[in-house]
Amino acid sequence: MRKIKSGVVGLDSLVDGGINENSTTVVIGTSGAGKTTFATQFLRRGLERGNDALFVSLDENQEQIIKEAVEMGWPDIYGYLEDGSLVFIDASGKKFSKFIRHELPTFVDEWKGSESRIAVDPLTPVIWSTEGRYEQRELLMLLLKETKKIGTVVCTLEEHGTRGDLSGNEIVIPMYLADTVVHLKYTRKEGAISRILEIVKCRNSRHSKLSHPYTIAKGFGLLVQGRTSPETKTNKAPEELKRKLKNYEKSFSKRVWDNILTSLDNLNDSDFADVDLDQLINDLVMTYSEEKDLDAKKNG
Ligand SMILES: Nc1ncnc2c1ncn2[C@@H]1O[C@H](COP(=O)(O)OP(=O)(O)O)[C@@H](O)[C@H]1O
Ligand SMILES: [Mg+2]
Repeated sequence: MRKIKSGVVGLDSLVDGGINENSTTVVIGTSGAGKTTFATQFLRRGLERGNDALFVSLDENQEQIIKEAVEMGWPDIYGYLEDGSLVFIDASGKKFSKFIRHELPTFVDEWKGSESRIAVDPLTPVIWSTEGRYEQRELLMLLLKETKKIGTVVCTLEEHGTRGDLSGNEIVIPMYLADTVVHLKYTRKEGAISRILEIVKCRNSRHSKLSHPYTIAKGFGLLVQGRTSPETKTNKAPEELKRKLKNYEKSFSKRVWDNILTSLDNLNDSDFADVDLDQLINDLVMTYSEEKDLDAKKNG
């Protein structure tokens, strides 16, 4: 899996080095959490590296987004627009179903395989524009499938209510379809602002399971505190586990024992962040001990 840099300072180390190429990331947050900033940062990083970028706006118009980017300290956005490497599709106020089914595919044909970055900001109006859950799912799947043909996709999603438990109807389907889900938890209590980023899911990658404070700063955009993640380079825990497990080798068949050792070779300390090793040994023995008899029988 090839990784690309997200452009969000501190985020890449939380998802094992970057976002998987040609994947879809959904960024969820309430209004003001920093979703549009995240999407713009992501595109901007690609533009700086010479890749093309496509901003599909379903809510705000192009002028508003450009104005906000310039205020964020990114006036270079004008240059990218001029030389054509940054393209806007303003679909705000359009019939989304018609846009996704008929206009988008034509566009995708032109851009297919261009290794561009695509931002869809926000997905929410698409969900609201559809009647049933079935159509919601079908339309979202089509949108994600089409945009992925162009390159790597970041979609944002409005979170409503204050519970922050991501159980809302309009959130569940996109979360399910996404390869990576980033939750920007933004709360204001008695004037105090709190911003916490969490990786809810990340297919095909190790990822942080912790809560990471972030700020938004002019010139940078989102700045995430990533360092508190468990070490991904050291493997003290798997080594200790191997040592301890040696005493139980006889509980396993040779086949299972070899599999366990091979699996442990691929793991490191970040995989064992909240694992009680002794409990795990107990569980391994419980799970596999009966296979010893089965394997023995099979081997005659
Ligand atoms: N120029 C700026 N400098 C610092 N912070 C900014 C600036 N502009 C916006 N912000 C911060 O970014 C937040 C809005 O981010 P935005 O990406 O528009 O959120 P969302 O799209 O989730 O509603 C604001 O709440 C503000 O705190
Ligand atoms: Mg926004």
